[in-house]
Amino acid sequence: MARRFNFCAGPASIPEAVLTEAAEQMLDWQGRGLSVMEMSHRSDEMVGIANEAEADLRELMGISDDYAVLFLQGGASSQFSAVPLNLMGDEGKVVDYVNTGEWSKKAIKEAKRYAKVNVVASSEDTNFTTIPAFDSWNLSEDAAYLHYTPNETIGGLEFFWTPESKVPLVADMSSTILSRPVDVNKFGLIYAGAQKNIGPAGLTIVIVRKDLLGKASAMTPTMLDYKTAADNDSMYNTPPTWGWYLAGLVFKWLKAQGGLAAMEVINRRKAEKLYGYIDASGFYSNPVEVASRSLMNIPFVLADASLDKAFLAGAEEAGLLNLKGHRSVGGMRASVYNAVPEEAIDALISYMKAFAEQNS
Ligand SMILES: Cc1ncc(COP(=O)(O)O)c(C=O)c1O
Repeated sequence: MARRFNFCAGPASIPEAVLTEAAEQMLDWQGRGLSVMEMSHRSDEMVGIANEAEADLRELMGISDDYAVLFLQGGASSQFSAVPLNLMGDEGKVVDYVNTGEWSKKAIKEAKRYAKVNVVASSEDTNFTTIPAFDSWNLSEDAAYLHYTPNETIGGLEFFWTPESKVPLVADMSSTILSRPVDVNKFGLIYAGAQKNIGPAGLTIVIVRKDLLGKASAMTPTMLDYKTAADNDSMYNTPPTWGWYLAGLVFKWLKAQGGLAAMEVINRRKAEKLYGYIDASGFYSNPVEVASRSLMNIPFVLADASLDKAFLAGAEEAGLLNLKGHRSVGGMRASVYNAVPEEAIDALISYMKAFAEQNS
């Protein structure tokens, strides 16, 4: 059976070359007579795979030795707790959060369990279709950190600028990491669930400046304390070895594509094509302000919502999977991560055109 085009927001498409390589090595990794899934995490083989993946990620993102790179479990959602627990300190400092959508809201809700949260800016009044101008942000005098969500996966809203922050800047990069270069040195901490641009679900990556380690609140569970993970090379307990290995294959694939600068060129071309068609169609629309439209998650609605079901059924038939918008907002969403090829965008646009012609 031919593989179809997958626009899922996560777990998302994985490069076909990576899946092929993993399949070839599934039963017998490099002649060792066993699968990566069956290896001790402390074996030379697995430690080698782990170190190589970390080195490749450092190279791709330009991560210096000032940062620890952690390969964890628990999803980005666990980081909503781990961030305040590790960074707020025991002096009861306020923590600053920007609210630009559903994932910001979840991070804020969780942080409120532990810390005094100051929401410095919110775009809820525009239904999260805009990013509040930086000069309107009500930053605290002495926050423990400033948290934001550079790409809101549900709303399709992306920052193309990095907030200036005197305090450690913390970013939930789950749905934008590896889509284009970022200057890691501007951040205190970056976290991301793997299931979009990194690899399979079950792995979570944290990149944390080393001077921020060792300051966790006394109540922090051992498993959420970044220092525990850093001191043990992310092997305090059994890490998600398969996800780590697959991520390593994805990092090698990204290097072979030319790295993140090359991915940005491709990702911009893909997104511009789809937004361009949506805007010109008169049948589909995207509500997000043009300057903040996500390169990775492109939501759109049909002129007549009663056609949604027929649109999705026809898309499936045309081999275009998982275009349904998030249950909280409805409509459609095309997630076009690194592994979604440009032909998928072309096929989607052809289908959208034909559907619009038949139904207008
Ligand atoms: C921006 C963002 N943050 C957090 C999450 C939650 O991630 P996880 O399911 O890994 O906990 C998601 C999931 O889609 C996301 O898109």
